[in-house]
Amino acid sequence: MPGVAILGVTGRMGQALVRLLSADPDGAAAGLTLSGAVCSPLSARRGRDAASDGVSTGILATDQIATGLRDAAVAVDFSRPQHVPAHAAACAAAGVALLVGTTGFDAAARAALDDAARTIPVLIAPNTSLGVAVMSQLVRQATAALGPDYDVEILEAHHRGKRDAPSGTALALGGVVAEARGATLEELAVFDRHGGSAPRAAGSIGFAVLRAGDIVGEHSVVFAAAGERIEITHRATDRAIFARGALRAAAWLAGRPPGVYGMQNVLGLP
Ligand SMILES: NC(=O)c1ccc[n+]([C@@H]2O[C@H](COP(=O)([O-])OP(=O)(O)OC[C@H]3O[C@@H](n4cnc5c(N)ncnc54)[C@H](OP(=O)(O)O)[C@@H]3O)[C@@H](O)[C@H]2O)c1
Repeated sequence: MPGVAILGVTGRMGQALVRLLSADPDGAAAGLTLSGAVCSPLSARRGRDAASDGVSTGILATDQIATGLRDAAVAVDFSRPQHVPAHAAACAAAGVALLVGTTGFDAAARAALDDAARTIPVLIAPNTSLGVAVMSQLVRQATAALGPDYDVEILEAHHRGKRDAPSGTALALGGVVAEARGATLEELAVFDRHGGSAPRAAGSIGFAVLRAGDIVGEHSVVFAAAGERIEITHRATDRAIFARGALRAAAWLAGRPPGVYGMQNVLGLP
């Protein structure tokens, strides 16, 4: 059974992955077995079991990524954006496939992922749920069918602990709209509206962000014209949905040729 190393094992997503793998020790559902668990050097859980809920996985959390990757066919990164370049380089050096679920990384980190993808398969997945992959397709279709007369706005809501904004998923959805309009997100995105800001520029894509309580993740893409409005919405109510999708994608990724992949490749979507 191929091994999976979790980078960011102590976090919300890391623990959701550990729970899923522990509930299925034979790997029957995911086709993967937990082989490594990586935390930060400052982590209170360094040297302790990968599961923080008292369950014994037999795998200890380590801050040495080379150790964590030792028996892995694939690594799944749900840590912090500033660590993405180092994780990419370590996976490339170890010949371990990498799924990046971490969001909010910068252009330099993206370049590091492209660099690693010359040696290993790298899957960049700001959202690992099946529903959001399908939503992206629907958004692409709606953008093309409705044309430029429809204003597009993207709304997202997450829990109070989320560090980046707008979410990686909201930005990816904005990228889908921009691409379908023959532009880049940088050209069309509007992130800031307050005070007496100027009227809406035609063709722009506005982002609105809500942070509160324990909201797992909600995204809406709104298409509005005079007289009608279409809203395509995805609501995640359980973090396990991201963990299940991540393991399915990681199992798909292990053993693929080097290159950059997305969730649409895993699901066979165009
Ligand atoms: N793709 C998706 O579908 C999806 C879904 C949910 C969240 N996310 C993204 O995934 C990331 C993690 O989310 P989360 O909610 O799990 O955050 P979180 O609870 O803050 O977990 C991140 C963890 O990373 C650990 N960490 C910090 N530095 C590290 C390092 N150098 N190496 C390994 N681990 C390190 C931190 O703790 P220690 O100091 O204890 O190691 C922390 O527990 C975020 O970017 C979030 O936006 C993506």
